[in-house]
Amino acid sequence: MSLSETAVDRAPSSGRIQQHRRYLMCKPAYFTVSYEINPWMHKADPTDTPKAVRQWQTLYDTYLSLGHDVEVIDPIEGLPDMVYTANGGFIIDGKALGVRFSVGERRGEEQPFMDWFGSHGFEVVEPIATQEGEGDILLAGDTILAGYGFRSSIESHREIADVFDREVVSLHLVNPNFYHLDTAIAVLDPVVGPGGVEAANIAYLPNAFDDRGRGILEERFPDAIRVADEDGAVFGLNSASDGRNVFISPRATGYDAQLRERGYNPVHIDLSELLLGGGGIKCCTLELRGGRS
Ligand code: ARG
Repeated sequence: MSLSETAVDRAPSSGRIQQHRRYLMCKPAYFTVSYEINPWMHKADPTDTPKAVRQWQTLYDTYLSLGHDVEVIDPIEGLPDMVYTANGGFIIDGKALGVRFSVGERRGEEQPFMDWFGSHGFEVVEPIATQEGEGDILLAGDTILAGYGFRSSIESHREIADVFDREVVSLHLVNPNFYHLDTAIAVLDPVVGPGGVEAANIAYLPNAFDDRGRGILEERFPDAIRVADEDGAVFGLNSASDGRNVFISPRATGYDAQLRERGYNPVHIDLSELLLGGGGIKCCTLELRGGRS
């Protein structure tokens, strides 16, 4: 698809192009913190499920109000993390690779997500190696960026390359607070580079990566937004983008300014309650690329 085919709106002053998105979300009807599988989760801290639902609803409504399509998967009692649909799979061109969680607490989500993809027109591929979907696998232009170190295994990267027949760039996550790639990198929009190769603008948190990963990111994305540690610490990078509107935490003030400087329109969504589970905006948003609509 060319950019002009997907463009639905152009910000007159900035030239940033909004693209239509189709997302999968899951209402946090059963959200709570009943186990601890990342450093943000503390069973002792109380959670407020109705508040989580209200905050989630704001994100859902905001996507719709900007013209995006949002599908929902039914929440399942006893699977409190199902709200983080980014971990439900990874989808390109109607092909959905299911997930194999590294944490037993979430393995009950694997089949329901694959069933949903199957019944909504996606070709489902059962995973072999451990990986946690779009939480650790991001499409940046034509290239797949894949994280490993905490949750997804590096062995999964070959499988991902084979399933989607694309280059996969492996990035080692080294800071336990940023245990999924989508807490450390945000893909902002596609750009067509020299020779028509599709690349992307990204934002990232340098300190979440080792030297090798930082080197790769600097070389491949010289124009990337490098986000400060303070913005990373409030889950600022866990943001979704339609190419023009970037959905971010209101606490990520430095990132907000960096986005504005480059002509993006930051849209603030407060998911403080869902941060108690170690997730934010992007975690609650799985992109559905292709398939029946
Ligand atoms: N409690 C969830 C877990 O640890 C949070 C998942 C966050 N998801 C994400 N895509 N980063 O699995």
